[in-house]
Amino acid sequence: MQDLAALITAIVLVVLSGFFVWVLINSSGDARLDDLAPRAYRVRGSVALVAGIGGLIIAFATLSPWPHLALATEVSRVIDVRGRQWLWEMSDSQARVGETIEFRVTSDDVNHGFGLYDPDERLIAQIQAMPGVVNAVRHRFERPGKYSILCMEYCGVAHHGMLAELQVVAAPAN
Ligand code: CUA
Repeated sequence: MQDLAALITAIVLVVLSGFFVWVLINSSGDARLDDLAPRAYRVRGSVALVAGIGGLIIAFATLSPWPHLALATEVSRVIDVRGRQWLWEMSDSQARVGETIEFRVTSDDVNHGFGLYDPDERLIAQIQAMPGVVNAVRHRFERPGKYSILCMEYCGVAHHGMLAELQVVAAPAN
């Protein structure tokens, strides 16, 4: 997914660069604003419409699975999480497939960022870990594997080493 995003970004940058070069090449002559403005205003509406509709389509497509579904499902279990320079202390490091876990996240010292990554190292949930505040984030686990918790806010020299693991195991057969 990251590769695709990088590719799309590169293509857009090339197209935009080409557009700027085209503008540069064609910008030598004189032109009166009164002559240009009506044409620009005609295009402006269409561009806004395309950008608006395109933005909505991209937003809906990339928000799947819809994050609010986790809020609508019943919480199976709570895992308390404390961030501290430079480790995560968790009341449990295991979950089962099918469970919706509510992570209640706080910090003992400075602000940290609680980032939950799936076994493919994709970010699937995140929330701030703040001293004196408990922030909750829920996630429903759909597949087994080794999930990682990484700190997402720079919090000092060993920020990069602020990691924890969460093992998600298959649900027991009934
Ligand atoms: Cu904790 Cu960065």
